[in-house]
Amino acid sequence: MDYKQLLAGLIASGLEGVEADTLRGLIEYPPNPELGDLSLPCFKLSKQLRKAPQAIAEEIASGLPEHEAFERAVAVSGYCNVTLRKSAFAAAVATEALTERERFGSQNVGQGRTVVIDFSSPNIAKPFHIGHLRSTVIGRALYNIYTFLGYNTVGINHLGDWGTQFGKQIVAYLKWGNEQQVEENGIEELQRLYVKFHEEAEKQPQLEDEARAWFVRLEKGDEEAKRLWKWFIDISFKEFDKIYKLLGVTFDSYAGESFYIDKTEPVISRLKEKGLLEEDDGAMIVRLDDYNMAPALMFKKDGGSLYHTRDVAAAVYRKQHYDFDKCIYVTDYAQNLHFQQWFKIVELMGYEWAGDLHHVAFGRVSLEGARMSTRKGNVIKLEDLLQQAIAKTRDIIEEKHPDLENKDEVAEQVGVGAIVFNDLSANRIKDIVFSWEEALNFDGETGPYVQYSYARTCSLLARAGVSAEELPSEVDGELLQEKETIDVFRQLYLFREKVELAMDKMEPSIVSRHLIDIAQSFNKFYYEHHILVDDEAVRRARLALVRCVQIALGNGLRLIGLKTPERI
Ligand code: ARG
Repeated sequence: MDYKQLLAGLIASGLEGVEADTLRGLIEYPPNPELGDLSLPCFKLSKQLRKAPQAIAEEIASGLPEHEAFERAVAVSGYCNVTLRKSAFAAAVATEALTERERFGSQNVGQGRTVVIDFSSPNIAKPFHIGHLRSTVIGRALYNIYTFLGYNTVGINHLGDWGTQFGKQIVAYLKWGNEQQVEENGIEELQRLYVKFHEEAEKQPQLEDEARAWFVRLEKGDEEAKRLWKWFIDISFKEFDKIYKLLGVTFDSYAGESFYIDKTEPVISRLKEKGLLEEDDGAMIVRLDDYNMAPALMFKKDGGSLYHTRDVAAAVYRKQHYDFDKCIYVTDYAQNLHFQQWFKIVELMGYEWAGDLHHVAFGRVSLEGARMSTRKGNVIKLEDLLQQAIAKTRDIIEEKHPDLENKDEVAEQVGVGAIVFNDLSANRIKDIVFSWEEALNFDGETGPYVQYSYARTCSLLARAGVSAEELPSEVDGELLQEKETIDVFRQLYLFREKVELAMDKMEPSIVSRHLIDIAQSFNKFYYEHHILVDDEAVRRARLALVRCVQIALGNGLRLIGLKTPERI
């Protein structure tokens, strides 16, 4: 049910020369529902209809055809405010939720279209840090949202598994490392060796030459170099996998940067053909002065490719391979220039799909004030962060619900959920200051709060002894008209629109924030009204509402990647 569409259609039938679609785009939800549930501002129609806005509003209000969905229409200061018939509204939303269930809020707008999402993409032999967490969490939410809206979705982990740093890593390992320590301490040990390389190279610059030589060996396919490089990948992946398991994230492809090194030939020839390559001190660059950007380095003196080059090659490959309608890259805003540069290069190369590339940038995270950075090994490891969140949640559960059965499982679901939700709670471009107290607050605007509200719906239904399957999808709206009740249905009704808006703006926080709105309206209803009342009919109607909230919260939580424990 789309009330904007319905109203727009009714109004258009009485207005000469104005399209329903135009009207639909103008209709808004008044901030104060006392004024009405829907409102058409008539200012933009004034010119075309050659009448004052208030005169148009009056004409529409008095001429609106009877419809069971709408109770009345009034003209106020150039707006036509329309009030929904509450009983019909509540019944319609409830029936929709109760019949659509896990599809409630979904649509088919993406049918036949493909979206590629490049997300997470950590670097081999480097810690998986909080920036990669944000990319993972935002990317996965977008992945779920696009899929929910009918798109064919491809999730790619563009691993940072290539570059001159591997020459340094090999030298450091051969000089100062040993196999056992790397096996035992994984990335931390690789990182220690890498940092040591830089310290030592300050004193002995010839180490840099050795590193270059090893990288050339790797590029040429030397067995020993390849063996070590592959081993670094395996070691790193063991740790990445632990985090992906905790987060419950999977990918459709793990084609990382190294996958494209033999696919840069066509990029070179096309760049040459278009006269875009320029020699600069032996290296090859593309000048972007005309677009107010620094030049992009495409090939090194020895012909080796760079981050930019591999991104261009990857985009060309993905277009051929997946024929995407959109290809999205999720990284922090520190990479804005990188993406602007190579998107422009793809455009200059004459690819007509250049406009389908999108950089979804997000802000930085700091923990209790301290910026996290990978350099010098000064980082909070993400696995530690998640484990800490789980441990803290475990303590809270122990204190509040010591008799809960599966405490460990729930602590993991809620602890991880708190971190994930925290990452999705504000506009993605905003920097985040992480605070434990806020993230784990069961009453604040947090993941645990939404999960807890979901669990409340589960325990209410369990206490009532009704299984979800038993509830009929026909609901008596006459019994669901209290203000708090209608407020819940308003939020439930908006769910579908919010999911679509989150997709349009590539902004999963729209869904997270809406989940807070649903949970808050539901909790208000819960405190104001008894649910398990004696009157059988009222009790059934209220339980139906509880079930609808359960459906919407469940769908929303799953979209943003949170688990839905039934008891907390
Ligand atoms: N590995 C990069 C980093 O950690 C992110 C890669 C993003 N994706 C891409 N196609 N450039 O910063």
